[in-house]
Amino acid sequence: MNRFSKSGKATLWLTILSLITVLVLPGCGKGEETTDIVIIGGGGAGMTAAIEAHNQGAKVILLEKMPMLGGNTVRAEGGLNAAGTPYQKALGIKDSPELHYQDTMKGGHNLNNPELVRTLTENAADSIEFLKENGAELAEVGRAGGASVDRIHRPAGGEPAGNFIVVALKKKLEEYKIDVRLQNTVTAINKKEDGTVTGVTVTDKQGKEYTIKAKAVILTAGGFGANLDMVTEYKPELKGFSTTNQPGATGDGMLMAKEAGAKLIDMEQIQIHPTTIPNQGVLITEGVRGDGAILVNKEGKRFINELLTRDVVSQGILKQTDKVAYLIFNDELRKSLAATEEYFGMDLVKEASSIRDLAGQIGVDPTALTDTVKNYSQYAASGNDADFQRADMKIKLDTGKYYAIEVTPGIHHTMGGVTINTKTQVLNESNAVIPGFFAAGEVTGGVHGGNRLGGNALADIITFGRIAADEAVKTIK
Ligand code: FUM
Repeated sequence: MNRFSKSGKATLWLTILSLITVLVLPGCGKGEETTDIVIIGGGGAGMTAAIEAHNQGAKVILLEKMPMLGGNTVRAEGGLNAAGTPYQKALGIKDSPELHYQDTMKGGHNLNNPELVRTLTENAADSIEFLKENGAELAEVGRAGGASVDRIHRPAGGEPAGNFIVVALKKKLEEYKIDVRLQNTVTAINKKEDGTVTGVTVTDKQGKEYTIKAKAVILTAGGFGANLDMVTEYKPELKGFSTTNQPGATGDGMLMAKEAGAKLIDMEQIQIHPTTIPNQGVLITEGVRGDGAILVNKEGKRFINELLTRDVVSQGILKQTDKVAYLIFNDELRKSLAATEEYFGMDLVKEASSIRDLAGQIGVDPTALTDTVKNYSQYAASGNDADFQRADMKIKLDTGKYYAIEVTPGIHHTMGGVTINTKTQVLNESNAVIPGFFAAGEVTGGVHGGNRLGGNALADIITFGRIAADEAVKTIK
C-alpha cells in the first residue's frame, strides 16, 4: 500500500529538493559547502592566487564583498618594480634583486622584514613573466621615487598599470570558469580548537549566511586606507586627510584574521602619497614625476628633489604655503605617459602655451616660475641639478605646451597588517604558523616597513599572491 498521500509525496519531494539546494548547489544553497581553497578578497593578490591555484589543479572559490573585482589594484597607476627583467636588459639598465632589496630596505627605513623583502625582490621578475603569460605584458620601464635605476614596469605607452592588470586577470578567471562570488562578504574565518583554520562564514548578496569548509584559506582582503576611523586610531595626525583608496579598503580582513589568532604588525605605518588632488584623493601617479615633471610651490620655486621617497616628498609639500604644490610638465611628457590623459578628462589640469601664462592661471609669480623652469632646463641639459641633486631628468621642459596640476598628500597605503613568513603562512602571537591559513598583499605587514616604494605594491601582490597559491596547494596535496 502506498504509505504517502499525494500531498505528503509533494512535501517529501520539496524537502528533498531544498536539501539538495542547501547542501549541494554552490553559491545558492546556504548550508555548508566544501572546496580546496577559499580566497578572501578579489583584488590583484586574490585574483593572482585564484589563477595560480586553479592552474595547479585546486578547486577554488574567490569571495569579494564589493560588486566588482579589482580592490585597490584597479586604482594603481604606476607599475611593478622588478629587477633583472628582459625589458631592463634590452634598455641596457644594470639592475639586480640585491639593488632592489637595498632600495626597498632603505626606502622603508629598515623597518621591513628583510626575509620578506628578499622574497619579494628575488621573485618579482617572475611576476612580470606571470603577468605576461596571463595577458598583461608590462613592457615599458620607468623611474619611481627611491629607486636607484629605472625599474618600474608598466604597459607600453604608459597607461595606468593597475586597471590593465585587473582587466587581463579578470578575463583569465572567466576563461578558466573559476568560482568568483561578488557581494559575498566573509564575516568570520573559522578554526578548530587547535587553531587550524578550516574555512569561512559568508553572507551572500541576499543577506543569507552560509559556510565554506576549505583545506586552506588565503586572505587577500587589502588594507584599511578607506577606513578613516581606523587610520586615525593608528595615526591621529592623519585626521582630515583624503584617501586614494577604493571604498572597500576597510581593514575587516585584518580584524577577522586577528580574531582567528593572527598577529598584526606595523599598524601605525600608514603611507601618504605626495601627489593627490586636494579634498578629492584622486591619485596623480608618481610616474608624472618619474617621467620628468617638477614640483613647485605657490612662490613658483622648486623645494625638493622630486624623486625622493614618498614620505620625504610628502613632508616637503606639507611644509609649503597652504600645504600644496604644483606638478609642472609639458606636452612631451603628456605624449609619453598615457596615464595623464585621465587627468585631462577629469578637468584637473591647467594648461598654457607659455610658462608665464601658466603662472597666471595658477596664481604664481610669473618671473619666479619662468626662472625656475629655465634653471631646471639647464640642469636637465647638463645632467646636473645644482639645486636639489635630482639624478634623473628625462625631459628638459624647454618646449610647450605647459601644464600644471595642484597636489597635496593623501592617505595611500597601509603598510601594517597580518604577520606572515616567506611562505605567506599566517603567524600567531607566538610567531607560530596557523595551519591552513595564508595571506598576501596589503592585508599583510612587514614587506614595506616604514615607507613603501612606488612600484612595490604591484610587485608585492603578484609575487606573494603566487606564493600563497603555491604553498596552499602544497599543503592540500
Ligand atoms: O604613484 C602611483 O602611481 C602609485 C603607485 C603605487 O602606489 O604603487
